[in-house]
Amino acid sequence: MQQRLKELEMEALQKIEAAENLKQLNEIRVAYLGKKGPITEVLRGMGKLSAEERPKIGALANEVRGVIATKIEETQKKLEEAVVQQKLASEKIDVTLPGRPVEVGNHHPLTRIIEEVEDLFIGMGYEVAEGPEVEKDFYNFEALNFPKGHPARDMQDSFYITEDILLRTHTSPVQARTMEKREGKGPVKIICPGKVYRRDNDDATHSHQFTQIEGLVIDKNIRMSDLKGTFEVFAKKMFGADREIRLRPSFFPFTEPSVEMDISCFMCGGSGCHVCKKTGWIEILGAGMTHPNVLEMAGYDSKKYTGFAFGMGVERIAMLKYGIDDIRHFYTNDVRFLKQFFVHE
Ligand code: PHE
Repeated sequence: MQQRLKELEMEALQKIEAAENLKQLNEIRVAYLGKKGPITEVLRGMGKLSAEERPKIGALANEVRGVIATKIEETQKKLEEAVVQQKLASEKIDVTLPGRPVEVGNHHPLTRIIEEVEDLFIGMGYEVAEGPEVEKDFYNFEALNFPKGHPARDMQDSFYITEDILLRTHTSPVQARTMEKREGKGPVKIICPGKVYRRDNDDATHSHQFTQIEGLVIDKNIRMSDLKGTFEVFAKKMFGADREIRLRPSFFPFTEPSVEMDISCFMCGGSGCHVCKKTGWIEILGAGMTHPNVLEMAGYDSKKYTGFAFGMGVERIAMLKYGIDDIRHFYTNDVRFLKQFFVHE
């Protein structure tokens, strides 16, 4: 019996040694140490032994069992560790591999200009106002002192939807709508960016849809010098601290007097170049003192209240600022064009 136990021990240890994985090891455990295993079998046969032999064999059987169990335990640890190592090796991350860059979007150059202008005017106490792009003839023309049949309507070729409804040709209807909402009370200080539409044939400098920013100030004692001072701040902030401005007489039905504002050329400083077409000056916006008829139609007492308004083309400003030669670049959304305006924010 002693012999048999020793053989079993040898045999078991060999098998444990040869076990390749945890599953095999477990099978060995069950086979040798389980209730139906050979050691239990030996112990069961002990009844036949003499009283002296019985404890010896019993002790030996327990010892063999212990040796096998310890060996299994050790091997199990080794195999488990090997599993972990293998997993680590297979899941290893190569941190030296180049990353895949994520394409990040950015503001469109027109949005950039709008936000820059908005920030500047908000800093001077203006609010941002908006109005509909599908507009009533009344707000687009009538309330701005363009009566039906007024020749100045010809300046703006319009997309009519019905006889009374059109795509707005400028952002000036927001002036009329805001004044109407304020019910004859001042002060009004608004800036209104938005899309406008005209029946133009598209080319490098014309687009049937473009963007304007409108401004309106109404209060007591607003004078032309307020308009001029505001434009000086605007011109220097947008186009450089040494810009000068000049006002030229112009005509808009809703302002009187009306002006156009030029800035000294930021490219040549005024000596004449291709940007200013050799004049030294660049036209930036249309403006004027709010016409008394416009004030009265919106419910303001034109004896108490005065104001000024201005409107500028955002594409034109962006083209000048960024040196863009074709207005159509803004709408074709070629990523190569848009990427040039990428700024980390
Ligand atoms: N609405 C005018 C245009 O589109 C611009 C303008 C706005 C002029 C406000 C004067 C005052 O041409």
